[in-house]
Order: sequence, then structure tokens, then C-alpha cells
Amino acid sequence: MSKITAAITAVQGYVPEYVLTNKELEKMVDTNDEWIVTRTGIKERRILKGEGLGTSDMATMAVNGLCEKRGISPMEIDLLICATTTPDHVFPATANIICDKAGAKNAFGYDIQAACSGFLFSLVTGSKFIESGQYKKVVVVGADKMSSIVDYTDRATCILFGDGSGAVLLEPNMEGFGVLDSILKSDGIGKQYLHQKAGGSVKPPTHQTIDAREHYVFQDGQPVFKFAVKGMADVSADIMEKNNLKADDVAWLVPHQANKRIIDATANRMGLSADKVMLNIERDGNTTNGTIPLCLWEWEKKLHKGDNLILAAFGGGFTWGSIWLKWAYNS
Ligand SMILES: CC(C)(COP(=O)(O)OP(=O)(O)OC[C@H]1O[C@@H](n2cnc3c(N)ncnc32)[C@H](O)[C@@H]1OP(=O)(O)O)[C@@H](O)C(=O)NCCC(=O)NCCS
Repeated sequence: MSKITAAITAVQGYVPEYVLTNKELEKMVDTNDEWIVTRTGIKERRILKGEGLGTSDMATMAVNGLCEKRGISPMEIDLLICATTTPDHVFPATANIICDKAGAKNAFGYDIQAACSGFLFSLVTGSKFIESGQYKKVVVVGADKMSSIVDYTDRATCILFGDGSGAVLLEPNMEGFGVLDSILKSDGIGKQYLHQKAGGSVKPPTHQTIDAREHYVFQDGQPVFKFAVKGMADVSADIMEKNNLKADDVAWLVPHQANKRIIDATANRMGLSADKVMLNIERDGNTTNGTIPLCLWEWEKKLHKGDNLILAAFGGGFTWGSIWLKWAYNS
């Protein structure tokens, strides 16, 4: 009997309308367009505006669009996993809120928190539910409203992040398409370089933590950069070697979009030319859990049935990983 694999059968994204350009950031902090573009590759990012709107609202847009595109009712979804670092609330899980807003009344849902690698970790988790034969329709959504935890007086971080979400539908496949292998890693050494100092159980929010701006993203960029370059390149090369894939066998690298220089180093190590690398960093910035599904959505028309994709990410924790995926349809 052939093995069940988890194939992506639809992809959908959502980015907010408001565009925050480098020029506008120049008016907010001591920075300039040239520095941002050369050091990161980012020109603009999307920001979710509107009182009372959060991560679940962007995710719901993506999930509803996904169902429409695939021609299914949200009631058919069995499980919804939400990868996010900016949940609507500490609890309940944002996935539950998305299920409610999207009308996925028969689904159960939960969140996965693995910073910028969360979408990859969630995709692997969702795939296992399909591979086991237990479920037929699993939605994995990566969504973040990074603007809710970014300090717009800190030039080292506020230039990097944007808001957005992307969702994929996983369904069983008997022909060998879908998620074929993965390597996932984490190392707690990374906490010191990239974290939110207050707001969790170790340091609950107080007037003092707010005054000290400790409820925002803290990042020591240089060590993170060094770990990211090595981690993402290693794990991408490793999954190719493990599966005997040569550069010519790989149609696309779908990388997490933290810094164009990290992406270039990864592609280089894999022996891939620039035309095989999906990018949205220039337009969207780092949307954390949104980057990879948004890339798939924005580049979907270029994808062909049977294409070998390597998905790769690196994020806070540290967490990092890669997935080998065979694309299941012509769009
Ligand atoms: C954040 C990052 C873009 C900074 O780039 P960098 O080349 O490391 O820059 P540095 O932090 O060394 O800063 C270099 C100089 O630019 C300055 N600088 C920092 N941010 C600036 C900005 N927005 N505009 C202008 N100058 C800036 C610094 O103060 C420093 O000045 P100095 O030399 O006078 O001290 C980069 O470190 C990075 O991408 N890190 C990893 C991000 C990542 O992968 N995160 C994980 C996933 S979320």
C-alpha cells in the first residue's frame, strides 16, 4: 500500500493595506533608506491599522480566502494550527479565535510558538496528522502583527518587521507529493540575543516594565545574524545531502525573510542561483510566521506540479529548520 503524504493543495495570504516605507521611518528614527536597503534588503512593510484588530483578523482573511480558493466550506476543516509570536491574547489560543471567526466550527485548533521558525514547525506537525490517516483537512496558518511588539523608537529593530499572514491547506496524497522530509532544531542559547524582556510569567507587565520599554522586541542583531547565516545554510544543505538532492533538482528555495544577506548566504551554500529564490522581504519586511506562506502565495503562479521546494527558517530561541516539499499542483 502506498504511503500517505501531506500535500499542500491551496495557499492564500493576506497583508494589510497600510505601507510603512523606509522614507517614513526616516522621520521616526535616525536611519536612512540606503542603510536599510543595503543591510537588510527591505524597502517597505505592511502595518495593520485599526483599533481592536489583531493577528487573528489577518489570519482569518487568509483562511477564508484559502477555503474559497479550494472550494471547500470552513466547516470541513478538521484541525487548524496557528504559528504566531504575537497571539491575540496570552490565552486562549489564537487558533481558536481564528476557527470561530472563519466559521471552522468542526475544527480543533492550537498555537505553536517557535518564533520565526514557527510556520515550519507547524507545517511538520500538521503533516503528521495527515500522514497518520487521522485527518483529511488540516490548515496551517502563520500570522503575526509584529507592529504590536515593535518599538518604533529603536532603529535597530523597527526597520525590520511588518505584519501579515499566510495559510496552507494540507490534504492526503497517495502519489508522493507534499512534505517529504524535515530537519528541525532548537537551542536555548539564543534567548539572550532575541527576546521580549517582560510580559511573560517570569516578569509580568508592570508600570515599570512598560516605562523601561521591556514589552517590545529586544534583539542583539550581530550574534543573531551570525547564528542565522550558519544555521539556515547548514540545515538547507543538510536536507539536500540527506535526500541526495543536487542544486539542479531543487526548483525553489523558500526562505524565511529576516535579512536578504542571510538568504543570499543560504542560496549560495545550496548552489542555487538567485532566480530560484522566493523573496518578499523588499515589500513585506520580516513578517515572522507569515514570511514562508506569504512567499508561496505571492509566487504561486511560478510553481509547477512536481517542483522540489526547500523551505528554510531561522528565528528566536534559537529555532531553525528546513523542509523538503514536492509541490502538488499547477496553479
Ligand atoms: C539587525 C541587522 C540588520 C543589523 O545589521 P548589522 O550589519 O549587523 O548592523 P550593526 O548592528 O552591526 O550596526 C552597524 C552600525 O549601524 C548602526 N545602525 C543600526 N541600525 C541602524 C539603522 N536602522 N539605520 C542606520 N544605522 C543603523 C549601528 O548603530 C551601528 O553603528 P556603529 O557602527 O556606529 O556602532 C542584522 O544584524 C540582522 O539582520 N540580524 C539578524 C536578524 C535576524 O535574522 N533575526 C532572526 C529572525 S527574526
